[in-house]
Amino acid sequence: MKLKKWWHDKIVYEIYPKSFMDANNDGIGDIKGIISKLDYLKNLGVDILWLTPFYKSPMKDNGYDVANYLEVNSLFGNNEDMDILIAECKKRNMYIMMDIVANHTSSEHFWFQEALKGKDNPYRDFYIWSDKPLYNLQSTFGGSAWEYEPNSKQYYFHEFAVEQPDLNWENPKVMEEMAKCINYWLDKGIKGIRFDVIHLIGKEIFKNILAYGPTLHQKVHELYKKSYGNYDIVTVGEAWGNLDTAIDFTSPEKEELDMVFQFECTSSTCDFTKFGKFSPKPIDMEFVKKTLIKYQEGLNDKSWNALVVENHDLGRCIQRFGDINYYEKSAKEIAVMNYLLKGTPFIYQGQELGMTNIKIDDINDYDDVEVHGFYKDYVLDKKVMSEEDFLKACNQEARDNNRTPMQWDDSVNAGFNNGHKTWLKVNPNYKQINAKQELSDENSIYNFYKKLILLRKDEKYCETFVYGDFKAIDVEKKNLFIYTRNLNDVHIAVICNMREHNETINLPFKIKKVLLSNYNKQYLDNINKLEPYEAIVVTF
Ligand code: GLC
Ligand code: CA
Repeated sequence: MKLKKWWHDKIVYEIYPKSFMDANNDGIGDIKGIISKLDYLKNLGVDILWLTPFYKSPMKDNGYDVANYLEVNSLFGNNEDMDILIAECKKRNMYIMMDIVANHTSSEHFWFQEALKGKDNPYRDFYIWSDKPLYNLQSTFGGSAWEYEPNSKQYYFHEFAVEQPDLNWENPKVMEEMAKCINYWLDKGIKGIRFDVIHLIGKEIFKNILAYGPTLHQKVHELYKKSYGNYDIVTVGEAWGNLDTAIDFTSPEKEELDMVFQFECTSSTCDFTKFGKFSPKPIDMEFVKKTLIKYQEGLNDKSWNALVVENHDLGRCIQRFGDINYYEKSAKEIAVMNYLLKGTPFIYQGQELGMTNIKIDDINDYDDVEVHGFYKDYVLDKKVMSEEDFLKACNQEARDNNRTPMQWDDSVNAGFNNGHKTWLKVNPNYKQINAKQELSDENSIYNFYKKLILLRKDEKYCETFVYGDFKAIDVEKKNLFIYTRNLNDVHIAVICNMREHNETINLPFKIKKVLLSNYNKQYLDNINKLEPYEAIVVTF
């Protein structure tokens, strides 16, 4: 067994600060709002709060365009508020994970403002410049990835929005500066880092290599050495890829990252041969299961898995992995299926309430730079999609649909603030789906998440869930996902029906005890039949 780490048994909860809780009623969530909800989060049982970028930013991409890594975004509060948040977390044995955007900055960042001053400015080489827009490279947010800069008559490269110029990681000064920024926060007691699109920092644009460039791992390792490797923290990299790339990043001897989000399952609802995110396709749960198994087996004992089904870039999981007709059952089943695997569970705000994607019918109601970028590209410029099809796809996969304000109660604006405007519309279903109501309902999705977390942390089973081995059984049954977790004398089976049909099963063991059931069933010694989206956890 590999070395144990303090974070191995912890649960991560993703907070999208802009939408979490608005304490000063300006329509935008803030740090004081987060502080006011720490007891709610403690009650749920989560330990580590991953905050998406909270630094100074013009908010073209909601903070993923950083204008100063050392300063808190004034929309969210100030550096002192962050100190208070860290301290308040500490009192509750909770930790903060920050989001480091290393691939690019905001065009308003001092480095870029300097770089614009001319070719001989010392910061010019912090970014990527070219006399020509090479290889017709396209931005992830639509349109060209090259932007012309008239003063110097050169183009700069931006993988994302025009206002997000890519840093030039070939320049060692970029590494040095970034390490300083990271250490500033780690010295304040931040205990984790989520690295944004980290697989892109080894790019060699002039050879047309974007992701997983030849010097990527060397760079991440160097950053580890200069910065976070000197602190006892947990790291996760956003690194769209596959099993091999995940292993490359996370094998402990390489000293790079603890785990990655590779998104192999969660991106399977988009057709990348067409318009990617804007051509959603129905999910193939068998593929999801096989992929989850592949990562369980592939990373087992070598490194560590991140268990994620939802985040601020993906549609809500009920609408992707579940079924709105079995709303409550499928929400619970998805949680059981994913969070008892080996690895670190990540829960996105509102997921624990069963929040759903909002329906948006008017392009003007979107704030997201990605939606507007592709609307211009696909609908207006290239005319390859109709507006109707585009909006339909957005309702399933676009990011704003899951970034609506957190639903705290059934008062105006769902209790996100006291009734003033909100930066994005509140989902009208907040009267039914909200924290206050769910806290008081023993059978709510919230209370099910809470029970699931308690079970995962129960001292009788915790070691088994965290370190026990994983074994899939009856793999050929395509609608079922059954696996066992085993350590010493403890044997746990997780039994999930991933679809809306009844299923028959025949388990190769005798049940000892039911630990959790989303149908509140008590099986005595055997199970023959599963209801739609039924999920049961038993010892045997
Ligand atoms: C990541 C973030 C996303 C952001 C992008 C650019 O994918 O999760 O929200 O837009 O990187 O920083
Ligand atoms: Ca506010």
